[in-house]
Amino acid sequence: MTNRLHYGDNLDVLRASVKDESVDLVYLDPPFNSNAGYNILFAPPKELRTAADAGNAQIRAFEDSWHWNDSAEEAFDQVQRSGATRAFELLNAMRSFLGDNDMMAYLAMMAVRLIELHRVLKPAGSLYLHCDPTASHYLKLLLDGVFGKRNFRNEIIWCYRKWSIAQGQFARNHDVILFYSRDEGARTFHTLYADPSPGTLRRWGGKRQQAVFEDGVRKATSIEEDARSPLPDWWDISVLNPNSKERLGYPTQKPVALLERIIAASSNEGDLVLDPFCGCGTAIHAAQKLGRRWIGIDVTHLAISLIEKRLKDAFPGIAFAVEGTPKDLASALDLARRDKYQFQWWAVSLVDAQPFGGRRKGADGGIDGLIYFKPDGRKTEKAIVSVKGGDNVGVQMIRELHSTMEREKAPIGIFITKALPTSAMEREAAAVGRFEDGFGRTYARLQILTLAELFQGKKPDIPLIDPSLAFRRAGRERSGEQRVLI
Ligand SMILES: C[S@@+](CC[C@H](N)C(=O)[O-])C[C@H]1O[C@@H](n2cnc3c(N)ncnc32)[C@H](O)[C@@H]1O
Repeated sequence: MTNRLHYGDNLDVLRASVKDESVDLVYLDPPFNSNAGYNILFAPPKELRTAADAGNAQIRAFEDSWHWNDSAEEAFDQVQRSGATRAFELLNAMRSFLGDNDMMAYLAMMAVRLIELHRVLKPAGSLYLHCDPTASHYLKLLLDGVFGKRNFRNEIIWCYRKWSIAQGQFARNHDVILFYSRDEGARTFHTLYADPSPGTLRRWGGKRQQAVFEDGVRKATSIEEDARSPLPDWWDISVLNPNSKERLGYPTQKPVALLERIIAASSNEGDLVLDPFCGCGTAIHAAQKLGRRWIGIDVTHLAISLIEKRLKDAFPGIAFAVEGTPKDLASALDLARRDKYQFQWWAVSLVDAQPFGGRRKGADGGIDGLIYFKPDGRKTEKAIVSVKGGDNVGVQMIRELHSTMEREKAPIGIFITKALPTSAMEREAAAVGRFEDGFGRTYARLQILTLAELFQGKKPDIPLIDPSLAFRRAGRERSGEQRVLI
């Protein structure tokens, strides 16, 4: 099986593409019902930063607020029809207790997905559900309903230090990871060990202690053995600080060290790891690094294009499939019809541009993406990308892009269109003139690219693109290597 990334709703992808009992380990880090929106951050190069960039260099990646509506009711009904009787009884009891509110909508969305995740796990497989105290108590009940309470293994507390507001209560500085095995029988689990504390090391020099009783008095002797103890269910791993090299700008990104620990404990080399809410792909990265096979699913193109870049930077030469993104004109048109923003994010990723603007009305000012380049190898310039997914395009759109280029002092503009340009548009674009790179080469300042041309592999004609400026670069890794993890 090829490792694969899926763009789409995980419920649809799981049902359509993941077979029963085929996965060894599931890690999921779904939205937590935090009632917040999460933005992906893009930092423009220092020399091009303007006051306006401060607000625009971020795009809403995903929403984490839920409401009881038709789709919540449908998820609830699907749990009822699924045959997972105990899970449904629990969900129904929660509905009586909570009522039809936001938390209940979140739990219905989770319940129907947990049933699918249980279906795809192998009998010796495990599931780790990452959440926080907002809903962890309800999710544990749901998991008891889906997996059976005997299959509960641990509630792992991931604690970290970070500045938190704590008025009238303690600072909330931990996440909860609920660990369940699929079946009670033989399961994959490798005990990990924690080093002795500095105090034990000082006192006993790394040897294990044994209590002996002499004349009824308890005495401790030390014996020549490894003093490390099995890793407990609380983990002290730093969160990614704002300057961390690992940070890619994706909200809620988790540290690779956390995922390496889970994958090393509950899978073997060559096993299949699934992350159905994969965000910027931390679990996928850790799985690749530790020589596991993997499947990642996310419902936004921002995440999928970021993971593609992350994996190629970290593991040069890596091969994997990307499913669910348009592969031909018909599927591109379908995406444009279904979701204008997802279409834009996908289209800008075709020309390796950084997405810009997002869903806020008027925020983009005619810019859907940016490509940074260094024509003379030193000074950074930007090209503005404008995407049009509609059936009707006209010369006015070319004029608008030209005026955006002037306003933004961008020497190059790229106009991506689904529809064929008219000859008036081509003339208007040609009239914008040519850009000289300082070495005698010239480039059309306003370039029109059709989707059909992009599918044929045509790229914008821009000198010395600096890809590292589009997304933050992931550090290079060697895959298939499991070193000491703690
Ligand atoms: C908390 S983030 C995951 C972060 C990830 N663990 C990481 O380290 O980057 C949750 C992700 O779930 C995705 N998501 C939300 N609903 C989804 C759905 N129904 N299907 C697939 N992905 C979904 C969001 O787009 C978001 O990227």
